[in-house]
Amino acid sequence: MKKLLKLTGLFLGGLLLMVAGFCAYVALSGVPTYDPPTIPELSVERTPARIARGEVIAQIQCAACHADRDNRLTGKHMADVPAMFGKIYTKNITQDKQKGIGSWTDGEILYFLRTGVRRDGSFAPIMPQYPNMADEDLKAVVAWLRSDRFPVQPSSREAPPSELSFVSKLLTHTLMKPLPYPQQLIAFPDSTNPIALGRYTADAIGDCYACHSGDLIDQDKVHPEKTKGYYGGGIEMTGDGGQPIITANLTADQKTGAVARYTKEQFIRMVKAGVRPDGSVIRYPMEPKPMLSDREVGAIYEYLKTVPKIQNDIARKTAELQLAKK
Ligand code: HEC
Ligand code: HEC
Repeated sequence: MKKLLKLTGLFLGGLLLMVAGFCAYVALSGVPTYDPPTIPELSVERTPARIARGEVIAQIQCAACHADRDNRLTGKHMADVPAMFGKIYTKNITQDKQKGIGSWTDGEILYFLRTGVRRDGSFAPIMPQYPNMADEDLKAVVAWLRSDRFPVQPSSREAPPSELSFVSKLLTHTLMKPLPYPQQLIAFPDSTNPIALGRYTADAIGDCYACHSGDLIDQDKVHPEKTKGYYGGGIEMTGDGGQPIITANLTADQKTGAVARYTKEQFIRMVKAGVRPDGSVIRYPMEPKPMLSDREVGAIYEYLKTVPKIQNDIARKTAELQLAKK
């Protein structure tokens, strides 16, 4: 018995040393870098249709993190990121050749948006990757970044470099990793099929699942539907005034799911204008999406009706949270 204890002790001691060693390694080495990738050579034609579509996607995705107060994409402090992740700043992605991405090729931008890896092999943590966005939509984003639209005109302003906490560095060795560059074309879904269009708009364009699922970090970016608590909501976020706000359950669960309570018209108004059926207004960090079409948002509604229902009472969770903070 004693021997067994001693062996267990030795084993645990060894494990502890390994963990301590790994932590020291993470603290010293920071964010991992990768071999400089082979980047596809391509150039994106800037058609007016692409630029218009790119603007829709950029308003939903890129502007939320990269736009400064004057709407130029010069980068900013991401004030919402909890302190445990460090101080995160986004980058200047205007056409400026030194401070922005004016000297990146179209292929380099596309490669980065899919994988999170720059031409020199460095990896951008926190910045989301877009594994499921159709090739045509990513090209639309690139066309918009290269267009004559105001937010992307060259500006030499920039935000300071991010200061990642130990937790963030640890995540870049575990959960936050580059994604592979897809080997096949990623096609736009059949837009005559509302469920396919809804799923694509919600998961690949709107990132709705990223806030409306069970965990903010532990998500399956490649197969969003495998993310735990998919569309069941319940993530605690921080509102404008610093108050906690819990994300909504969007499934069709009769008692607790939003889609069961809304008609399609009400849902469209809620998502595009931010107004609920009872006249109350949606609060930050949920941002209304007026740039999406009624057809796209209606399709999201149809899709949400098909995802597995989850019983998760957000109103009760909110009440409990308020009690606990008193
Ligand atoms: C959730 C916030 C977030 C969103 C959304 C986002 N980014 Fe970023 N992005 C970041 C952060 C943070 C960095 C800096 C990472 C670092 O410090 O390495 C970054 C870095 C970049 C870079 C690298 C710039 C450089 O000089 O190294 C490019 C290019 C970029 N983003 C483009 C985009 C585009 C295009 C979109 C929209 C399709 C977008 N980002 C959406 C947060 C975001
Ligand atoms: C940045 C995180 C975030 C993203 C992205 C997001 N939401 Fe939300 N959403 C929230 C939060 C937080 C609430 C709760 C707000 C409140 O209580 O006022 C919410 C509330 C809602 C509601 C109201 C539900 C109810 O119970 O009345 C609907 C509908 C909704 N979101 C749909 C969507 C759709 C569709 C998308 C994608 C196009 C989306 N959300 C993207 C955070 C997000």
